[in-house]
Amino acid sequence: MCGIIGYSGHRRACDVIIEGLSRLEYRGYDSAGILVNENGKFVTVKREGRLDNLKKTLENYSLNGTSGMGHTRWATHGGPTDYNAHPHGTDRVMLIHNGIIENYLEIKSLLVEKGYTFKSQTDTEIAACYLDLCYKGDPIAAIREMLVKIEGAYALVMMFSDRPGELYAVRKDGPLIAAPGEGENFLVSDITASIAYTNKYFVVEEGEIAIVTSDAIKVIDHDGNTIEKTVSVVNWNTDQAQKEGYDHFMIKEIHEQPSVIRRTISARIKNGLPDFTSDGLPHGFFSKFKSIKIVACGTAMHAGLIGKNLIEKLARVPVTVDLASEFRYNDPIMDENDLMVVISQSGETADTLAALRLAKARGVTTLAIVNVAGSSIAREADNVIYTYAGPEISVASTKAYSVQISVLYLIAFSIALDRGKIYENKAKSFVESLCSIPEMVENTIKLMPAVEKIAEHLKDHENVFYIGRGLDYALSCEGSLKLKEISYIHSEACSAGELKHGTISLIVEGMPVIALCTQNELTAKMLSNIKEVKARGAHVVLIAKHGESVSEDVADDLIIIDAVDDLFTPFAATTVLQLIAYYTAKARGCDIDKPRNLAKSVTVE
Ligand code: G6P
Repeated sequence: MCGIIGYSGHRRACDVIIEGLSRLEYRGYDSAGILVNENGKFVTVKREGRLDNLKKTLENYSLNGTSGMGHTRWATHGGPTDYNAHPHGTDRVMLIHNGIIENYLEIKSLLVEKGYTFKSQTDTEIAACYLDLCYKGDPIAAIREMLVKIEGAYALVMMFSDRPGELYAVRKDGPLIAAPGEGENFLVSDITASIAYTNKYFVVEEGEIAIVTSDAIKVIDHDGNTIEKTVSVVNWNTDQAQKEGYDHFMIKEIHEQPSVIRRTISARIKNGLPDFTSDGLPHGFFSKFKSIKIVACGTAMHAGLIGKNLIEKLARVPVTVDLASEFRYNDPIMDENDLMVVISQSGETADTLAALRLAKARGVTTLAIVNVAGSSIAREADNVIYTYAGPEISVASTKAYSVQISVLYLIAFSIALDRGKIYENKAKSFVESLCSIPEMVENTIKLMPAVEKIAEHLKDHENVFYIGRGLDYALSCEGSLKLKEISYIHSEACSAGELKHGTISLIVEGMPVIALCTQNELTAKMLSNIKEVKARGAHVVLIAKHGESVSEDVADDLIIIDAVDDLFTPFAATTVLQLIAYYTAKARGCDIDKPRNLAKSVTVE
């Protein structure tokens, strides 16, 4: 977690850094800090809380230096205070850090012996002071000496007061991008922080040291040899990362779903059939695997649950879905007959990355479904299918989930076809149905006023239950996560058939139960479950498909989505669930895009 930006150029560094930090704030927002080199002297300003606090404080400063760095923090070691905010260091050496230095206590005692004292409780300050100890006038030598000592994960940007205009950067298990501009250069956690100035970037790899001045970015390897980096160009623009008139990024991103689904699937359809050759996957790629392991965290894991249902149903290939944080420590059974699919919006989630590495170490073929180009997971997986959601800023994931499941649909069709489980005509008709999904999502978004009314009722409750069967159960899990993470209402997803094994004891008069009933063959069973909770006083919000045999009196509130084949209901149903979470959180006055205690990119385990 944490967002970092380093700048050397011709503009007021302070302005550039603050703007960059505002785009990185989704990575953590417990505190923020900035350092500007003013005529060879470090001026550091740090404030706990949101970036706005730092901005307000900076109104009392006049900082004209053209190099500096900034940090937005998600606290790990030490609470969110002014002192614990980054940058950290001494008069001579300062740095910003994303990650965790695991052996900081050991280094701390060594520094104490040398007479160092500390202002913060952070692991980062220890690394900074250790760098100071190593610094004898040669930054590269000092950095190398420090790297031998520190253990853990890090992306570090470092400045030395006697080297004005120069920034140094290294990383291990944390993201770090160098972005070359015209007469100015950047080091950033991700390209959204530099995109207002340049669309060029390259990744600083592990083992490399980047040296940034206003004129150049030089990268050297372990032995000091210069490395020629290939510069990539990203086609996101600043507008894409802005709210464009919406109240929140989350609702903007919900509205973007039709277009990003369209973009993501159309790149993988040729002659009416799924085709991943533009992603480098040859025809028949999936057919050689006997089973599939999907591993991910949070919303991405919930996308995996949909993928399992589809692949098993259509292609009859066994699929397991695991949380990455469990998978990596459970000594998973896997071999070369398995395909490991990791799903990640950011491509930086520490547990997902570790699970990927574990699979690779065991000789398993890996495929990543990732949104952020150049991210660690994208680079390390054997194969990558990029989702084209564009930057997702809201911490609660919406459009990234929809494009992840779009890709999983195409994968399921592709495997089913390759294994002869469906004929080409059927595959074509599935692809055609998938192509009509963006329009269906557009129609679903029009249900906003009805959902807003339901949210008015939900907002006064402290517990909500979601129930469903089959695909609807997988959707319930995501709907429940969405609600709890942004509205702070306790919510639970329960397989409807499992209610009577425990959860039903919690149903009391007025308790909201959001029931999904979009699967024809399960409608009768679902209606019985709904009656069971109604009989115990539940207030039922029913999400059903047009034409489904559900009468109004079965529910207290009814949301009807377009009629499509059962297989394709998740897109509309999930949109309704996202809207329920959004409007409920809004009605409760919550900080929707930046929910408390959460961060968008979880780069610590
Ligand atoms: C965090 C985010 C979630 C996301 C999860 C996995 O918890 O708040 O929205 O689903 O991480 O992130 P990834 O980037 O790997 O999809």
